[in-house]
Amino acid sequence: MVQLSLPKNSKVDKGTVWPAKDGGKRMKTFKIYRYDPSDNDGPRWDSYQIDLDECGPMVLDALFKIKNEIDPTLAFRRSCREGVCGSCAMNIGGRNTLACTKAIDDVAGGNISISPLPHMPVVRDLVPDLSNFYKQYASIEPWLHTSEAEPEKEHLQTPEDRDKLDGYYECILCASCSTSCPSYWWNGDRYLGPATLLQAYRWLVDSRDDAKSDRLDALEDPFKLYRCHTIMNCANVCPKGLNPAKAIAEVKKMMVERA
Ligand code: SF4
Ligand code: FES
Repeated sequence: MVQLSLPKNSKVDKGTVWPAKDGGKRMKTFKIYRYDPSDNDGPRWDSYQIDLDECGPMVLDALFKIKNEIDPTLAFRRSCREGVCGSCAMNIGGRNTLACTKAIDDVAGGNISISPLPHMPVVRDLVPDLSNFYKQYASIEPWLHTSEAEPEKEHLQTPEDRDKLDGYYECILCASCSTSCPSYWWNGDRYLGPATLLQAYRWLVDSRDDAKSDRLDALEDPFKLYRCHTIMNCANVCPKGLNPAKAIAEVKKMMVERA
């Protein structure tokens, strides 16, 4: 699987090594990408040694330990710590995933390298700039379009129609899939990418939505939709086990069927 591209500002230099104060039995080194745009020296890799017997089991626990006990300047995003908010997505050991649900012991190899989601501008350290990603998500108008009168409680659908949303509504917009996609790396300004297209499909199959034709019109574009080449990195990395490539294929099928 191709997934080694670094963030967009990447002439990376060697950084500082922070050895553990006291030797422990289960020492692990975390090699972390560091970048402060106000620092003229550019990006670097800092290494931090941690005794895993003194740390929680997840990669996010290690990041907290580093920030709280070794280097408070380390920046990363997180919120729920439960794999729900999507904010802690980053590249861990060469693979995009969520730091809060990735067990340290499950990362292959000796030292663990951690960098921001690949090929995105970096705000600081492990924090990517997701402005374009969210702008693209907003562009598919991810809300119900209906001409029906406002119901007293809710817009109903049959259990069968509700089932059609399974495999799509669970997306937490972590951006792991889009930022693992080479096609998105090359054309991220025009190709909507796996996450946004999965969300687009989620609304296209919603039985309560009236805007299917308009939604397809908006996607009919050589770049927005058709830059998916079924590389499948998206399905390979999704921490929720979703398959954006399948959703994209379904959208393409809808285009053919209506033509
Ligand atoms: S499809 Fe999966 S990897 Fe992509 S944004 Fe949604 S949850 Fe994250
Ligand atoms: S902190 Fe919310 S998904 Fe990891």
